[in-house]
Amino acid sequence: MCGIFGYVGNKNCIPYIISGLEKLEYRGYDSAGIAYLKDKNLEIKKIVGKVQNLKEILDFNDFSNVGIGHTRWATHGGISVENAHPHTDCEGNIAVVHNGIIENYKELKNFLMSKGHKFRSQTDTEIVPHLLEEMVDKEGMNLEEALKELFKRLEGAFALLIIDKRRPSILYALRKQSPLIVGFGTGENFVASDIPALGDYTERFYYLKDNQMAIVSDKEIKVYDLKTNNYIEVEPIIVPQDGIRAEKNGYPHFMLKEIFEQPLVVRRILSTLDRDKDKFIFEDIKNVDISWEKIRKVFIVACGTSYHAGYYAKFLWEKELPYFIEVELASQMHHRNLNIPEETLFITISQSGETADVISTLRKVKENGFKVLSLVNNPQSTVARESDYFINLRAGVEIGVAATKTFMAELVYLELLKEYIKSRLYNIKIDLDKWNMLPTYLESYLSQIKDRVFEVAKKYYQKRNFLYLARGKNFPLALEGALKLKEISYIHAEGIPAGEMKHGPIALLDPETPVFGIVYKDETYSKMINNLEEAKARKAPIIAIGNEWDEKLESLVDDLIPVPNVDPFYYPYMGAMVLQLFAYHVANLLGREIDQPRNLAKSVTVE
Ligand code: F6R
Repeated sequence: MCGIFGYVGNKNCIPYIISGLEKLEYRGYDSAGIAYLKDKNLEIKKIVGKVQNLKEILDFNDFSNVGIGHTRWATHGGISVENAHPHTDCEGNIAVVHNGIIENYKELKNFLMSKGHKFRSQTDTEIVPHLLEEMVDKEGMNLEEALKELFKRLEGAFALLIIDKRRPSILYALRKQSPLIVGFGTGENFVASDIPALGDYTERFYYLKDNQMAIVSDKEIKVYDLKTNNYIEVEPIIVPQDGIRAEKNGYPHFMLKEIFEQPLVVRRILSTLDRDKDKFIFEDIKNVDISWEKIRKVFIVACGTSYHAGYYAKFLWEKELPYFIEVELASQMHHRNLNIPEETLFITISQSGETADVISTLRKVKENGFKVLSLVNNPQSTVARESDYFINLRAGVEIGVAATKTFMAELVYLELLKEYIKSRLYNIKIDLDKWNMLPTYLESYLSQIKDRVFEVAKKYYQKRNFLYLARGKNFPLALEGALKLKEISYIHAEGIPAGEMKHGPIALLDPETPVFGIVYKDETYSKMINNLEEAKARKAPIIAIGNEWDEKLESLVDDLIPVPNVDPFYYPYMGAMVLQLFAYHVANLLGREIDQPRNLAKSVTVE
């Protein structure tokens, strides 16, 4: 994953790079580092941990017009100062920061070692400065030729920023698969992994495409395209800064703020519904030109939380639409053959739109002639740009690493999409009143249950294992509840289809292992009650989300977090918020780093 940031211009690069890296920390925070040119020499500073630690060792009185920085999510090589970026060549002329994975780094490293290059780290990245050194100093290329040659010699994914002390006013930026954006300033220019890092300085951006290199100086940005072997004209896109900046607005963590923002997100999405017409239609669907009556199969592909949203949709869609629905993890798609009918529609779901596994699936299925519709929270992202059709999730910037409001937006859009298809296929009217009430219900539900969820979290936060049980369409929510808990609290949690308990997992139950059931009064109710009885008989403490005034459930469980007796349509949306809040409070009571849990990153740009 990793975040990279580069500056070249008439001001001091150091504060820019540091502030940029702070905004990119969601991509990784194992170590951080910076390289800048000072008195014709490269200054390199790096540390283990967050950008805050880097700030402590920097001399802010230093002045430099050009520099690059990095915040790392470790892939190759442990978390150490040696493995922190930037990396340099033997002579210390060239400094490189990298996001991605260079797959053939071992062969290249052996080759370079045989040529006498000395390596200081275990990273794949370090081969880049040495390879450039080899090509420039021994093979006689000039730096630009060597950089173009890099695209041919490196396999895998990379976004690279490179400075060379012999070309002191230029920054080179290369992209293949990993995201990289150049920002156009006045007397200064920028490069970063993502727009939020640049939002304070410019509104004009260009997304580098695969196999493009930007040669960036204070006055201009030249973009070279390997495909055409030429410099190309690029037109910056304007992305207004409003909405890029993210503040906590008084909440102790972004995650909590984002949980409470969910009714607003739903309201925003619903504002795109066209209320004047008879047909059920919403903004982004107008650009989706799919013959829904010809589709036979829908293949939903995503990772993590987005996968859970897709898995949930499978149950909804299957019930009401005449399609066979399959859901698969994008990381599993590498290992699958596409022996599927032509009339298959692929749907990818990704809040970031930069998840490497989702991107490779998208490319694979498009190469095989299938159409792809994507639900993405970032309209400029690779997934959004490369899909045939695209729905903007409109959740706003999500800073907490744990996905919350984007999950809500995914659930809502998947259900809206189902309603839309249903209305097209069967020419039926959709109950808009039900939708109109959703944000209001979510708002009042949040204020109603927030204290109750905190109370329950206080009772259980010291347990080390949790099992989340549900059936049918509620099961993906159980998976999501368990994922939320484990990723931010580091407590082991598993989502298990309740019917599977007796096939093995029931052996885990004891008084120290709480079971968290999702038990609405729906078609799963009576079987869920039986499964919870079985858990209770093994003395497991039981927490449940279920209907208020359900005496049977209340007498069975230790702690009930009730949903009101409204239309079951609302339950999954309400339940999702309970699961998120529970995980949040448990993690907070344990003193975890909620917005930046260990080992994780917001954008998973490696496979
Ligand atoms: C969990 C979480 C991850 C992501 C997953 C996919 O809270 O955020 O599991 O859902 O990495 O990311 P996107 O949706 O960006 O493709």
